[in-house]
Amino acid sequence: MTENKNSINQKWYASWFDTPFYHILYKDRDYQEAQYFMDNLTGYLNLPEEAKILDLACGKGRHSIYLNSLGYEVTGADLSENSIAEASQFENEKLHFKVHDMRDICEEKYDAIFNLFTSFGYFENDEDNLTTIKAIHNSLNETGFACIDFMNVDYVIANLVPEEIKTVEDIDFHIKRYVKDNHIFKEIAFTHEGEKYHFTEKVQALRLADFEQMMEEAGVYLLDIFGNYKLQKFYKNDSERLIMIFK
Ligand SMILES: C[S@@+](CC[C@H](N)C(=O)[O-])C[C@H]1O[C@@H](n2cnc3c(N)ncnc32)[C@H](O)[C@@H]1O
Repeated sequence: MTENKNSINQKWYASWFDTPFYHILYKDRDYQEAQYFMDNLTGYLNLPEEAKILDLACGKGRHSIYLNSLGYEVTGADLSENSIAEASQFENEKLHFKVHDMRDICEEKYDAIFNLFTSFGYFENDEDNLTTIKAIHNSLNETGFACIDFMNVDYVIANLVPEEIKTVEDIDFHIKRYVKDNHIFKEIAFTHEGEKYHFTEKVQALRLADFEQMMEEAGVYLLDIFGNYKLQKFYKNDSERLIMIFK
């Protein structure tokens, strides 16, 4: 890992994702869609019944919990202590959660590692992206597959809503979105109990060519690319997602 623990704690992705406000803003995050995607992905990968899956950057575990309900042995891992604490209430014999940085190699090996819903491209340093892909590769067993489900940058930019107000649980979240320095920014400002808050999500505008280059450098093999949760073909301008399967 390139940064020490103290500097990590100051990063936007270590603070914002760990606040209750992040979970309030995204409380309607689509569980059905997550399940539909997991049905399609596990079907496509043809995972054995006893497969071990790592849900890397699992948040509160919506994919992990569903994958476990399908019978798989699942570990959900995330940097956010609060998310892991919340997810942990669903733990059972074959479902575990842990605080973990995606740049670190896991002690165990997995049949499948999933990095879902744009949980990549947060680091300041390009080297950390590469470190993450290498860590994923090194945490797979010999027959294992990995999946990164990222936004399709060209689609997102073409459909960017520059400003909106979203009211959730009586909080008015003022949201601004823009593209700058090859990053997609989302500024979130709101007042809660008289206190003003301001957070910024900042995700690198990584396109397929960027991933292809990183994967080549990391020595992983890109097997397939899909453009949505139905696992249909990827089209640069029209697909909502950029879903990459590699080993
Ligand atoms: C957009 S959320 C997606 C969460 C989950 N995959 C889902 O679909 O609900 C991104 C997640 O990445 C986690 N994250 C950010 N940086 C991380 C890191 N370095 N290592 C592990 N997780 C990280 C955040 O805490 C957050 O839960």
